[in-house]
Formats: sequence, C-alpha cells, structure tokens
Amino acid sequence: MLTGPDGESYIELRSDTFTLPTEAMRRAMAEAPVGDDVWGEDPTVARLEAMGAQRLGKEAGLFVTSGTQANLISVLAHTQPGQELICEARAHLYHYEQGGFARIGGLVARPVPSRYGAPDPDDIRAAIQPHDQHRAVTGVITLENTHNTHGGTCATADQIRAIAAVGKEQDIPLHIDGARIFNAAIALGVDAGELVREADSVAFCFSKGLAAPVGSLVVGTQEFIARARRHRKILGGGMRQAGVIAAPAIVALEQMVDRLAEDHATARRLAETLAELPGIEIDMNTVQTNIIYFDVRRDDMLTFDLVKALAQRKIKAAASLPHRMRLVTHKDVSAEDIEITCQALREILG
Ligand SMILES: Cc1ncc(COP(=O)(O)O)c(C=O)c1O
Repeated sequence: MLTGPDGESYIELRSDTFTLPTEAMRRAMAEAPVGDDVWGEDPTVARLEAMGAQRLGKEAGLFVTSGTQANLISVLAHTQPGQELICEARAHLYHYEQGGFARIGGLVARPVPSRYGAPDPDDIRAAIQPHDQHRAVTGVITLENTHNTHGGTCATADQIRAIAAVGKEQDIPLHIDGARIFNAAIALGVDAGELVREADSVAFCFSKGLAAPVGSLVVGTQEFIARARRHRKILGGGMRQAGVIAAPAIVALEQMVDRLAEDHATARRLAETLAELPGIEIDMNTVQTNIIYFDVRRDDMLTFDLVKALAQRKIKAAASLPHRMRLVTHKDVSAEDIEITCQALREILG
C-alpha cells in the first residue's frame, strides 16, 4: 500500500513508475559525492555508468534522464537522418514517445508485427530495405524487452541472437529498449548480460520496478557511448551534480533486482484470479513478468466502469481503451494488497 498526501492508504496498480524510493536510496542521495558530470567529474555518476555497463556486459554506459531519452539518444547515435528504423508494431518507442525518432532523428519507422513482442527474424529480414536508390537505408533494428503492451512478455536470448544475426548480415545494429530488462532476465532465469550479449546498445530504466526516483542508462561500446553523450547534450540532458540521482540508481542495481521475482508472482496471482471471472479474457501465455493485460467483455461494464469500482475500494487502476486494461505490480504492492485486490475483483465482477 501507499499513502497519499491526504493520509489515505491505497493500492497502486497503474504502473511500476509509481514506486517510491527506499530509505537506503534516500540515504544514498544525501551522502553521494558529486561533481560536474558534464565535465566528467561526478564520481557517483561515473560509478553508476561503469556498474550498469558491466552488469549488461558492455564497455560503457551513459546516465540519462528517462527511458524516452535513452531510446531517442540510442537511435540517434546509430543512424543518420533519412534512414529507417525497424520496430515491433506495438513498440513503446513507436507509439508512446511522440515519434521523437521522426521529429528529431529524421527517421522513418518500419513496424513489424509479432504475436508476443519479438518479431520473427524472417519478418525482420523482409523489412530491411534492399539497396536501391528509391529506398531509405535501414539504419537500426529495435526490440523491446520486456514488451510492455504485449503484457510484459520476454524475448529470450535465442530470439535476440537470431534477430541480431539478421542485422549483422547487413551491418545493421540492434538496439534493445530494455526499460524492464531485469524483469526479463529474472523471469527467464538468465544473467542480464547474457540476455543482451548480441545487442549493440541497451537502454534500461531505474525508475520503474527498480524503484529509483529518476533515470535510465544507455550501454554499448565506448565509441557508441561517446556519440550518445553528444546527443544527450543537444537534447538538454547534460546534468551537473547528477550524483544525487545516480546514487539511488546504484542502490537499485545492488538491492532491487532480485526481488522483481516477487512482482512476477503477485502479477500471476492477480492474472489467475482474473482468468476465473466472467467476461474477463486474459492470455495466460503473456503473464510472464509484472504487467498484465486483459480484456473486459461484458454487457454490463466497460473498463472505465471497472476502474471506477476499484477506485471506490481505494485501488488505483487505469484504462485507455473501453475493453482493454492493464495492471502492473511492483515493490509497493504487497502479496496482501493483491489478496485485497482479488477479493475486490471477485465482488465487482463475480
Ligand atoms: C518499454 C518502455 N520503454 C520506454 C519507456 C519510457 O520510459 P520513461 O517514462 O522513463 O520515459 C517506457 C515507459 O513506460 C516503457 O514502458
């Protein structure tokens, strides 16, 4: 449970971005040694960048303000204006980042559909533009892991390897939007570095399930990160004494990764309850991490009505479509909160 400014407790299931920083994070913020990071003199940011890069098996890292900025900087650093970007058809980068790659990067998107978030490598190969003066040049392949709108689904190391191999045939880099890459690694039971070994760059967030207040990291080769650093600056993302926000991100990496398994267990419990309720359709194959998507197919209720009924019971949920809805578990939702939510769902929908 969380407590609002009015002192009222509530259960927050809208997103893992609502997680609050831990006491250890707040202490780390207060005590962090800092300097001017644009001048390369913030020791805490440098430590975080080195830690994050090492954790994902890459040479270097760059601390940035958000997942959106991390993706934009990454695709800018891989491409030239006028090129194409391949993405999964429901990718966050394509739908929910204002098309920054087009507006700022001058890129055209070539979306490739998939069943569970990771396109078939043959479909990616078919989406790469042939060398022909009429066509834009394919500049980068992107992949989202876990895939948010497919339900927090994981791309496996084999799937990533196969997609990266298609890119390598034509020297096209692979960028992974790994906003929740540690959820994928924990769910698949693999080391995160192993999982993204074949990717040229990875962006991941500290401020979602890992519960840090702000920030994301881009990782890749030294040379790629040097280019990314220039793009960060032009986007206004060069930060000064950023050690105060890098410090809780270090705590996130050290203390908050393994516990993500708890969020996956609570999401499963919630999904199993929903699956038993009349008029609820949920594909249990998609219930792999901390995000669940389901359809409300009832004559008496749209998702908006369900959201209102939950809100009356102090459970916060959100719906963007009349029949489709998402719930997200995280460290500020306990197993007990989930039992309360399951009971509420039974009362409302049973
Ligand atoms: C898969 C994915 N990528 C990128 C982002 C963007 O992150 P931010 O909100 O920090 O910009 C999100 C945010 O929810 C996301 O789910």
